[in-house]
Amino acid sequence: MSSYFRNRSLLQFRSFFSCALVAFVCFFVPHSTSGQATSAAYPTAQPAPEWDDPSIEPRVEELLKKMNLEEKVGQLVQYSAGQPTGPGTGRTDYNDMLAKGQIGALFNVVTAKETNAFQRGAVEKSRLHIPIIFGLDVIHGFRTEFPIPLGISATWDPLLAERAARVAAREASATGIRWAFSPMVDIARDPRWGRTTEGNGEDPFLGSAFAQAYVRGYQGRHLNNAESILACPKHYVGYGAAEGGRDYNTTEISEHTLREVYLPPFHAAIDAGAGSIMSAFNSLNGIPTSANPFTLKKILRQEWGFRGIVDSDWTSVAELMNHGIANDGATAARKAFQGGVDMDMVSSLYHDHLADLVHSGQVSEADIDESVRHVLRIKFALGLFENPYVDEKKESSAMLQPEAVALSREVAERSFVLLKNDLLSSATPLLPLSPDVKSVAVIGPLADDGAAMMGSWGGLGNGRDAVTLRTALNQKLGEARVHYAKGAEFSTATDAQIKAAADAAKSSDVAILALGENGPEMTGEAASRAHLDLPGRQEQLLEAVVATGKPVVLLVFSGRPLILPWAFQHVPSVLAVWFPGIQAGPALVRTLFGENAPGGKLSMTWPRSLGQIPIYYNALSTGRPATQDEARFQNGHDEKFVSRYIDEPNSPQFPFGFGLTYSTLRYGPVELNKPELRLDWLREGLNKSSSSGPAPLLASANVTNSGSLTVTETVQLYVRLEGTSVAEPVRALKGFQRVTLAAGETKRVVFSVPAEAFALWNDQNVFTVEPARATIWISGDSRSGTGAVIEIRNKAN
Ligand code: NOJ
Repeated sequence: MSSYFRNRSLLQFRSFFSCALVAFVCFFVPHSTSGQATSAAYPTAQPAPEWDDPSIEPRVEELLKKMNLEEKVGQLVQYSAGQPTGPGTGRTDYNDMLAKGQIGALFNVVTAKETNAFQRGAVEKSRLHIPIIFGLDVIHGFRTEFPIPLGISATWDPLLAERAARVAAREASATGIRWAFSPMVDIARDPRWGRTTEGNGEDPFLGSAFAQAYVRGYQGRHLNNAESILACPKHYVGYGAAEGGRDYNTTEISEHTLREVYLPPFHAAIDAGAGSIMSAFNSLNGIPTSANPFTLKKILRQEWGFRGIVDSDWTSVAELMNHGIANDGATAARKAFQGGVDMDMVSSLYHDHLADLVHSGQVSEADIDESVRHVLRIKFALGLFENPYVDEKKESSAMLQPEAVALSREVAERSFVLLKNDLLSSATPLLPLSPDVKSVAVIGPLADDGAAMMGSWGGLGNGRDAVTLRTALNQKLGEARVHYAKGAEFSTATDAQIKAAADAAKSSDVAILALGENGPEMTGEAASRAHLDLPGRQEQLLEAVVATGKPVVLLVFSGRPLILPWAFQHVPSVLAVWFPGIQAGPALVRTLFGENAPGGKLSMTWPRSLGQIPIYYNALSTGRPATQDEARFQNGHDEKFVSRYIDEPNSPQFPFGFGLTYSTLRYGPVELNKPELRLDWLREGLNKSSSSGPAPLLASANVTNSGSLTVTETVQLYVRLEGTSVAEPVRALKGFQRVTLAAGETKRVVFSVPAEAFALWNDQNVFTVEPARATIWISGDSRSGTGAVIEIRNKAN
């Protein structure tokens, strides 16, 4: 166990996930009977960055003593000085303010020349020469764009996220940007919410693994490395639970659900060393999250011991007035500050009111000092006082390095999820295509649109850097064999466009349709949708091409699961490809032609219909669970008085964890190496600060590749607890590992299951283990397989 975790073990509270991740890293080593599995479930634990270094504290205190109140408040003020990423606010006098020490941070400034110029204003003109931090929404790459985060999470490989984040950190830092407003670790159970695209899906365990990976990638081992940038997990907290999936909307989440579902990825990120965190727009149980002492002070500061910066979201301090908890700017500033927000992003209300609030005695200067400490500590840790500027000559050579571009392609290939791949009349599946195919039609608004490949929050990604599907197909097959027809715009199409596309399909052996959302506009912030079908006339285009009788491969480009029942019924092969980034085309072509076997798994449940939303796998049982579900529709059986719809099965189109590949996999029964689990062992395991103690439970199963290609499978471990003081999910992910299997090969996959896998937040909101019946599944998704049962008992039987 890393010293970082030992040091923090004195904290009174620890979340399940931080513990679970550590235990997982320490214990979860894949085992196999016929060779080594290819990768451990998570990368080896890295020591946390040392920004919280005691040697920094005297420097912070010394500087603080020299600061007047105006300068202190200045450290808590942040503005956007470039392309706005929120509503306009009209302020432009940043140079004057910098010279007066009235600004602590700027963002949306994106070239080395500009960051250096602003930095000179702060360092050379202000009385105390305190540098500013430059931030940006570095979400899935800076110039080298990677797939959208939801796509990256479908790799189920946090190490890939870490490597991608490191590339982004290198590129961004070359321009002077040292703060990424990322990762977004909000749990999303509602695909109507546009920001689903920015996160890691619906599961707290998977989400925690990715949260830590991004933090490690951005911050590296040392924050003062010139290529390291500060991470900022956001939006704290519950933002993804916006009612109706409508952005910025209200949330109501019980403390139990908050602790079991929404908080863990944040806690994991903080435990990995994130030096900042962003509060959110939503109100949570009536209290806006940008003025919420329960989440920002009690949980974040007291329970988790966080000592970095709490940043507000864009004008979320001023929005306290719209929420109705402040009738003027001064009250909004006071409530946000006293609620736990250190830095005011864009509102200007801290600048306008905090000093007066101190003079009038409504805010204490000691509290201001504490917030300033949070900011200065990070500035010292980043090495900004020693190295405030960047070398403008090195900026352009840092971008789009060949290894970065190659990594982008690798991540894209690993993110694709094969949803369907039917056998054709020849009894072979349509995919992979033969490279000898005579001709292909490539159709759709996403077939040749580089800019759309960036999805939302494309950073400095440039559509011209992207290789599109059409270009990559031309490169692979030669232009004469590729028949391109756009077929439709995103939101419109003429009959002639659709006909031309059908004609292109008729004159080809196979049609590849690139359909879906316009990433930059239809996904991301302020892009919630009430309809989750293909926009415009794309469905008609699809039907017209399918009607030609030619085999069709559908590539769904989207920032969320889309509702496509007709396609799933009539199209033989469907891949979810998200927005793959600048290497979209090569990654897709290698996948279509079998040089890469898709191995992505859904990090979010794929619904059948809008009416099922919100739908997520780790739901609670009801008192009247439906048992027949799909069979009821198929066989005409009926169950009355159970929890169900009368016009739709409860089951999703595709469950969380699902993803096919170009082979078939079989799972054997789960075996456990112990007859029972003792409560005292597990509690000891939960409280320990070292890895000694009773040996953990080993759960294992054989996984067989019964097809004819080597493939990599993500094997998943789920647990259900019954008989506990609170109802727990019908299944909850507690481990996963990737295993490569040659054709015909069987491997025994062993999970070492730590105590945390059996822990819960009980009816007193205490994190503990209780006597229970536990069921354990090892499976390829969240619905398949047969669980093995083990009792957690008070005493040996
Ligand atoms: C508002 C968004 O909610 C947040 O994610 C982003 O970091 C800020 N704007 C800054 O652009």
